[in-house]
Amino acid sequence: MVRPGVTGSMRVLFLSTSGHLGGAERVLVDMVRATVDSGGTAGVLTVEDGPLTEAASKVGGDILPLPIPRGFGRAGESQASLATMAAMAASAAPLLSYSRRLTATIQSWQPHVVHSNGIKMHVLSARAASPPLVWHLHDYVGPRRVSRRLLRHYADRPALIAANSEDVARDAAQALGRNDIAVLPNAVDLAHFTPAGARADLDALAGLPPADVVRVGLVATYARWKGHHTFIRALAQLTPGIPIRGYIVGSPVYRSAAAQIQTDALRSLALSMGVSAHLGFVPFQSNPAPVYRALDIVVHASTAPEPFGLVVAEAMACGRAVVATRLGGVAEVADDDVASIHTAGDAQDLARAIERCARDERMRAALGIAARARAEQRFSPVGFAEGLDRLHREAIRRSGVAA
Ligand code: GLC
Repeated sequence: MVRPGVTGSMRVLFLSTSGHLGGAERVLVDMVRATVDSGGTAGVLTVEDGPLTEAASKVGGDILPLPIPRGFGRAGESQASLATMAAMAASAAPLLSYSRRLTATIQSWQPHVVHSNGIKMHVLSARAASPPLVWHLHDYVGPRRVSRRLLRHYADRPALIAANSEDVARDAAQALGRNDIAVLPNAVDLAHFTPAGARADLDALAGLPPADVVRVGLVATYARWKGHHTFIRALAQLTPGIPIRGYIVGSPVYRSAAAQIQTDALRSLALSMGVSAHLGFVPFQSNPAPVYRALDIVVHASTAPEPFGLVVAEAMACGRAVVATRLGGVAEVADDDVASIHTAGDAQDLARAIERCARDERMRAALGIAARARAEQRFSPVGFAEGLDRLHREAIRRSGVAA
């Protein structure tokens, strides 16, 4: 087994399930930066070309493209696990050859530790002969029937499993039958996500005329549980004539089509609820900081427990007034003294929270100031880099013991 020196020069190979830049992939970029900044070397094995490749190589990551078989890339599970199983079975032969290529790529790169960052990669990495392996969980596995079974089957392979929040760790302990799940809360680049700085022109991006309004936005991937419907319904319940404009920022970025909403469906809902004139659709933005700054209120409306809530953390660092739910890990990110809390899935409650904030500029300013201060305490990249390094060294230590 290859071992790093005691003081540094860690070689970490990160494996990503997606080439896009959802929350989990943005954290991956943070980990590449942390590894490189501490004098180590970071490889990023990606299954597809996309914004992740560019972002990871910009911070010094060594990119190793290894395209994944089509069927496997698309398989999701929120619709019907049978369909997923079928998709996986259909791609079994190419999958086997993918596993072999993955093993070969890992071996030739000679990492001290392999850090897998997405469920499909957890399965593939467990099957590949590999050096000390870390699974990094960004999502709940308990409710995902297929993933839970697959991951539980391989759960003794990784030397260490880490979760992005206490809540995800609790779920994983139960779902995977391991009682040693580590917690590595995400960080936010506090020098980049700042209250002052460039602001995006959301109206131009959404193709709307300029207006003097309070800007309220939901920034999220188009996963079904991110609460886009609740947000649109809430906009429809605002007092008529109140100068508020809503924005939906994001795109269906992942390949598992069944788990995502499509833009047309949201546009038709907006039309049927009569809010089209007050709602702008802004496509995915690879640099979200100017988007947060352009919003007076950032809305988090996930209808299922949020594993961590990176958007909430980033919006807090940008000093925004945040309206959020407190389901899942987001309760560890935002407290009710730094965000206005509403009940998940309750459009009327969300509308009330938005309207209260929109009418009260002083309240927005106070929330924003408190949010930035809390972000500085909680999401420090320094603490994150230390935690990551500890995690990798512990994975190596454990593998040494097992060997
Ligand atoms: C996933 C989770 C989100 C979290 C992100 C980064 O996208 O859904 O809650 O913030 O990963 O860990």
